[in-house]
Amino acid sequence: MSVLVTGGAGYIGTHTIIELDKAGYEVVVVDNLSNSKLTGLRRVEKIIGKSIKFYEMDVCCEDSLRKVFAAEKINSVIHFAGLKAVGESVAIPLKYYENNIVSTISLVKVMKEFDCRNLVFSSSATVYGNPKSVPINESFPLSATNPYGKTKLFIEDILRDYYHANPELNIALLRYFNPIGAHKSGTIGEDPNGIPNNLMPYITQVAIGKLEQLSIYGSDYKTCDGTGVRDYIHVSDLANGHVLAIKKLETAPGIVTYNLGTGNGYSVIQMVKAFERACGKKINYRLAERRPGDIAECFADPILAKKELGFEAKFGLDEMCEDCWRWQSANPNGYES
Ligand code: NAD
Ligand code: UD1
Repeated sequence: MSVLVTGGAGYIGTHTIIELDKAGYEVVVVDNLSNSKLTGLRRVEKIIGKSIKFYEMDVCCEDSLRKVFAAEKINSVIHFAGLKAVGESVAIPLKYYENNIVSTISLVKVMKEFDCRNLVFSSSATVYGNPKSVPINESFPLSATNPYGKTKLFIEDILRDYYHANPELNIALLRYFNPIGAHKSGTIGEDPNGIPNNLMPYITQVAIGKLEQLSIYGSDYKTCDGTGVRDYIHVSDLANGHVLAIKKLETAPGIVTYNLGTGNGYSVIQMVKAFERACGKKINYRLAERRPGDIAECFADPILAKKELGFEAKFGLDEMCEDCWRWQSANPNGYES
């Protein structure tokens, strides 16, 4: 029996395939390579020492999905496929609503036809909007301020409604905090298109000299040093959380929702300092205006995932930064290096 990984060629998907393989699962990957390259999967094959079944296709296309389900014995699905650039989602909202929502609806329809009952969905801490306090637990109120975040919120709602109509299903909604880092081999990692929006890839590109200066968005938040605080989690820890979620679904729990974070918050300045330690260089930065839509502090209460999945992040801040640096310095142009 196999786990179908949609969006498996992407950043979190490639790392998750490795953890699934370690845990003894067979993997089938579908991806349209709209935000990834085949090289990532080829490198995963080298790491795990075996070939990966891969279908290049759009998850929105039910007929293509049917062919995969007909050809493979799929027991569970991890649905990573989706677009994730917040700024682009504001500029081109329909692209986000169509891709993220239609792909999920097509997927669950075809899963039903093939009596495949276990689904892990990639949600995000963005569904907590501007939280009233930290740490954030799973019962906090939900809201979203941009089309990307709204797709996550809508899909969670769609899946909750769908579950109530189909209680034989098992669904895990995983709300990720901020994934960073890379596999220890330094051969796979985050490879953003163009100028990165997220903090860590921006810092790494300043460190290798591709970008001149980091702008720190906001230094007047009510945080330890005035800069924004987030819960950064190593992508391999996050990947392992998916294996634990699949195991949980195998016990037929119905619909479950978990934060995947470390429970620790670090400020932008703390991240810069940690990265400087890891790479042995100074990061050129300036203090800038707040970024619209940003919140002061966001970090997880990770207790539920610990209690019910046995999930606990292993990697600390320094190791996350070292792994980012190993990947970025060996692959200055990502998979095009
Ligand atoms: P990514 O862009 O690296 O990977 C997503 C993959 O999905 C890409 O390989 C892309 O080509 C593929 N894809 C997109 N639409 C598709 C479609 N219609 N059909 C087939 N393939 C399609 O992103 P990631 O960082 O690995 O994120 C994976 C998931 O986790 C996404 O749903 C994202 O929204 C969610 N998430 C990511 C973060 C983060 O910070 N990286 C945080 C919270 C949630
Ligand atoms: C962002 C998205 C969020 C998405 C998440 C993961 C926004 C408003 N939010 O979250 O929806 O789920 O990425 O993809 O885009 N920072 C700088 N300088 C930079 C970049 C970031 O100071 O060049 C700061 C930010 O202000 C923030 C922290 O670094 O305080 C982390 O930013 P980022 O990596 O973009 O993640 P989030 O804002 O948490």
